[in-house]
Amino acid sequence: MAILITGGTGYIGSHTVIELLNQGYEVVVVDNFSNSKPEVIKRIEEISGKKFSFYKVDLLDYIGLEKVFKENNISKVIHFAGLKAVGESVSIPLKYYYNNITGTLILCELMSKYGVKKLVFSSSATVYGMNNVSPLTEDLPLSTTNPYGSTKLMIERILNDLVVSDPEWGIVILRYFNPIGAHESGRIGEDPNGIPNNLMPYITQVAVGKRAALSIFGNDYETSDGTGVRDYIHVVDLAKGHLKALEKVKSEKGVMVYNLGTGIGYSVLDVVKAFEKATNMTILYNIVDKRSGDVDRCFADASKALKELDWKCEKNLEDMCRDSWKWQVSNPNGYKEN
Ligand code: WQD
Repeated sequence: MAILITGGTGYIGSHTVIELLNQGYEVVVVDNFSNSKPEVIKRIEEISGKKFSFYKVDLLDYIGLEKVFKENNISKVIHFAGLKAVGESVSIPLKYYYNNITGTLILCELMSKYGVKKLVFSSSATVYGMNNVSPLTEDLPLSTTNPYGSTKLMIERILNDLVVSDPEWGIVILRYFNPIGAHESGRIGEDPNGIPNNLMPYITQVAVGKRAALSIFGNDYETSDGTGVRDYIHVVDLAKGHLKALEKVKSEKGVMVYNLGTGIGYSVLDVVKAFEKATNMTILYNIVDKRSGDVDRCFADASKALKELDWKCEKNLEDMCRDSWKWQVSNPNGYKEN
């Protein structure tokens, strides 16, 4: 029985595939390489010492995706595949709704057709919107401020409706906070296309000399030093959370929702200082205007995942900075050189 991973060559997907292989799971990966590179397959096999099945398939390709179900004995699915850039989603919303939602509908249609009713879904803390006060618990009212976040919220609602229609489904929805860091080997990591939207890849590109300086979006937020506070979580801790979620759906039905965060908020300046300390590098930065849609503080109440999944983060901010840097300095141009 195999685990199907959609988007398994992406940043979080690739780290999760390694943890699955390390635990002896049989893994099948589908990806369309819209935000990853074929080189990642080789890196995963190098790190884990194991092989896995791969299909270059877009979730919008019903026939191509059905071939995967026909050729493999899939027992559960972890669904990462989706467009994820907040800013880009504002400029091309139709592409985001079509890709993320229709792709998920096709996946669930085929899962149902082949009797696969165990799913772990990659959601995001962005569904908590701008009106909730951190620490955030899973029962808070949900809202979104951009099309990317809206696709995640709509898919959560679709999955809830699916379970109401067929209680045989077991679905875990994981709401990620801010994943950063990389596998300790430095052989896989975050490799954004173009100018990084997110903080840590921008910092590492400044450190490696690809960018001149970090622009810090605002320093008059209601926080200790005025810069935005977020809940940064090591991508390996996040990956391990998915294995705990798989165990949960193995034994339970219905929809279960969990925050995957550390429960600790760090400001932008905290991260810059931690990075400089961990790497002995200096990060030049300028304070610029706030970025629209950013909230002052966003961090998790992570107690439900601890209680119900027996999962908690093991790595700290220093580990995240050190591992992010090891990936970047070993791969100054990401995967592009191969
Ligand atoms: C973190 C902090 C910025 C870049 C987003 C999505 C979320 C998830 C993670 C997909 C904020 C500040 C950032 C920069 C900066 N993505 N910053 N200069 O916005 O919390 O979350 O990415 O699932 O859904 O919303 O992450 O890394 O963009 O920003 O000052 O160049 O760093 O203002 O305070 P964010 P981020």
